[in-house]
Amino acid sequence: MAFQAALAALAHECSTCQRCPLAQGRQQVVVSRGNPLARLMLIGEAPGAQEDELGQPFVGRSGQLLDQLLAAAGLDSNQDAYICNGVKCRPPGNRKPTALELAACRPWLQHQIALVQPQVLVLVGATALQAVLGLKGPISQLRGQWQFFEGRACMPIFHPAYLLRNGSSQPGRPRDLTRADLVAVREHLLALR
Ligand code: URA
Repeated sequence: MAFQAALAALAHECSTCQRCPLAQGRQQVVVSRGNPLARLMLIGEAPGAQEDELGQPFVGRSGQLLDQLLAAAGLDSNQDAYICNGVKCRPPGNRKPTALELAACRPWLQHQIALVQPQVLVLVGATALQAVLGLKGPISQLRGQWQFFEGRACMPIFHPAYLLRNGSSQPGRPRDLTRADLVAVREHLLALR
């Protein structure tokens, strides 16, 4: 199947998904935004209220901060990245997705990775790190350390929701560390060319 048709088929199949109970509370299945031809894929946790309403990942306050951090590292969130989540439907009250919900949604994520074939993954927050690599370690220790998933380099970073609560950009603080992690991602992409 041609690439665009395969993406459209994936979005359509996702939109009718009933694989877990989150289907009951959602307004929309939030599949992706950005560029499916990008070499970089960002994977977050799950949609929040605004994402559920608008049908796109990372469009609320966390998303705005993520966009700013990417831009500061020389990356445009819509041109240079394909953005999705470990879980595609909003958990009630924005709670963390359960292990069962992550497992139920995993085939969609695998399908997205198989279609987009990113060279680099950014795992946005501890839940994405767990969803993709099964690593439960503290994000404060694992962020900034390259990992590998199916031969692709993966960079775990702090979740922007955490950075919104920790606003200092002083050297060595979480925002500054995240900026540095995203610069490392950009440099890695440039080196791979
Ligand atoms: N947080 C996430 O992890 N994903 C979104 O899409 C929005 C907020």
